[in-house]
Order: sequence, then structure tokens, then C-alpha cells
Amino acid sequence: MTRILGIESTCDETGVAIVDDGHRIVANKVLSQIPLHERFGGVVPEIASRAHVECITTVIESTLAEAGTPIRAGTPPPIDAIAVAYRPGLVGSLLVGVTTAKCLALAWDLPLIGVDHIHAHVYAATMGQEEDARDAPEHDIEDLLPAVSLVVSGGHTSLYLTKRWTSHELLGATTDDAVGEAFDKVASILGLGYPGGPAISRVAENGNRKAVAFKRSLMSGDSLDFSFSGIKTAVLYHTRGQNAQRDAPIRPEISIPDVAASFEETVVSLLVDKLARALRREGGSTAIVGGGVAANRRLRTLLDRLADKQGYRILYPPPALCTDNAAMIAGLGYWLLEEGKVSDLTLDADPVVAR
Ligand code: KG4
Ligand code: ZN
Repeated sequence: MTRILGIESTCDETGVAIVDDGHRIVANKVLSQIPLHERFGGVVPEIASRAHVECITTVIESTLAEAGTPIRAGTPPPIDAIAVAYRPGLVGSLLVGVTTAKCLALAWDLPLIGVDHIHAHVYAATMGQEEDARDAPEHDIEDLLPAVSLVVSGGHTSLYLTKRWTSHELLGATTDDAVGEAFDKVASILGLGYPGGPAISRVAENGNRKAVAFKRSLMSGDSLDFSFSGIKTAVLYHTRGQNAQRDAPIRPEISIPDVAASFEETVVSLLVDKLARALRREGGSTAIVGGGVAANRRLRTLLDRLADKQGYRILYPPPALCTDNAAMIAGLGYWLLEEGKVSDLTLDADPVVAR
């Protein structure tokens, strides 16, 4: 059995988890900073990194205690390696996790594993299943590949061809905003608060998905790239008037639930269509969807419908493993360790998305 302690601090969640053999979650703690950022309508990098510094050691202590192995002076806990998300993300936030991981690896004399946060969002779809499935032999999850993977989060919207859990070939990506960012900005335009994804979904339940025909930006030909900045502006002009500024009042005849539902439908159906396009192009039968937006219920409904209609197998994580967490970091860390992809103490935070 290989037990890995994972650390996640790429953005505004401080996560620490302990995972056995890449799939059995022993403890998984996420401390969200949402209350610190919500009045700004988005993540403030300087506030995020300070908050990580303030809480990371406490979260590590409480996660180890929950696993039944509290930290005792002079005795390293029964952990086989330290995995940390070192890219991509906000540089100040990443640095807190990476520096902490290096200190633990040095103090406890353990291997250090640098994990790509986006690859971990894909891997999360293999985790958090029912007890029986979780304890399935490891080779089962290798049988899921190759797959087409879609990562949809606050910072990323990318399609990959995944041949191994540790390497992904980019098929397409957003040319402007990430889809989660579009949810957050549209929620702010509609006065629905932060984070925007869950807020829009909640309100959309009482709206008509066909009320407003927002234009879908499919991009040229059979492109697998995405664009979400147009729809954000379309929502602004629809609700507040053509060429209106963000602070103009919402027109009285506007139904917020209808706009929220129409926006959500336009965006999630576009994601599903692009995923289907990628599967057709790559000739694949398995798709994996991860990242915060994968928690969206309407997206899951449309994905299940696509799976039923076309016979595809489409996997996504349980909602708690869609948004940022350290279980996915420790989980993927296991496979990197298996492949000997261990880092040394020169591991550095890398804020840029790897292509
Ligand atoms: O993966 P994540 O926690 O952080 C990044 O790596 O960016 O994703 C956060 C994003 C936010 O933009 C949030 O609005 C969005 O995921 N999100 C959702 C839902 N839950 C979270 N978007 C749509 N529907 C949801 N239910
Ligand atoms: Zn993320």
C-alpha cells in the first residue's frame, strides 16, 4: 500500500488529502476562501496567498489527525510521499503549497511529487466512487484509456486526448475566458453573487432555457477551441441595454431566471457538442469531464443523454471532487510516483498552463 499526502493551493482553496494507492480517500479537507473573495466578485490573488499561508499548517495537522495519524514531534507520520499541485495557478498561492510540500518532504525524508492541477482534474473522475468500485484493482482505471478529456473550471476550458493519466495531448482550448469565469462574470452582471456557477444554476431552475436565444460561439469549421467572451457581453446588453455599462440598471422587463437558464443552456450545450465533436474526430468511445463546472447539473444531464444516445462512456467526479481538492492531487501523485516522476527540492511554482 502506498499512502500519499496531497496539497492543493493553486487558487482560493486550501486542500490537503491522504489517499492510498491512488484511489482510496482516507481524509480530504478543503478550506474554501469564498467568504474572503465574494465581496470582490472574484479571487483577489494577494488575499488568496495570504490566506493559504495562514491556514495551511492547520489544515495539514487536521487532515493527518482525521486519518488517525496525528503529527507527533520527532516521529514522521506513516506517509510514503508528498504530492503538490505546482502548476498552473496564481503564483503566490502555488508558492505556499510548493514551499510547504518541500519542507515536509525534507523534514520527513519523503519523495516529492509535482502534480499538474489540470491533469488532476481529469484524474478526479476515477475517484470517489462507491466503496466497491473504489476498491477495484488498479488496472481497471487504466482500461478506461484512451479517452477524450474536457476540463471546465474557473481558470481553464480545454479538451485533451488522454492516453495515460500522466500525459495529455491538447486538442483545443478557450481563446478568451474560461467557462467558469463566464459563469462568474454573468452571475455578477445578473447580481447573483460569487461563485457564479452554483448561483446561476440555482436561479436557472425556475427559468425557461429557451427564453433568450444567445448566440453559440462554435468557432470556425471543426475547431475544438472555445470562446466565451461574446456571450458575457450579450448577457450584459440584453439585461441592461445595447452598449450599456456594467453599472447601468437591469431593465424592468428582464426575468433573471430566464436569462440565467438561457445562458446556462447555451454554454453547457456548447460544451457537450464540442466534446461530441472531439470524440467523433478522435474515434473515441470514452470521455472524461472534470473541473468546477463539471458539478453543473444541467451539464451532467446533457452528458448522460449524449452517452445514452451515442453509446459513449462518459465519466465525471462526484460534485465534491469537481471543484479544487487535494484528493485528486494525491491520487494522480500515486501514478507519477509509480512512473518514477519524482521531483527534487528545486521544484518551483509554474503559473502558466502547460500545452
Ligand atoms: O475547478 P475549480 O474549483 O477552480 C479552478 O481550477 O478554476 O472551478 C471553479 C469554477 C468557478 O468558476 C465556479 O463558478 C464553477 O467552477 N462552478 C460551477 C458550478 N460549481 C462551480 N459552474 C457551473 N455550475 C456549477 N454547479
Ligand atoms: Zn481547478
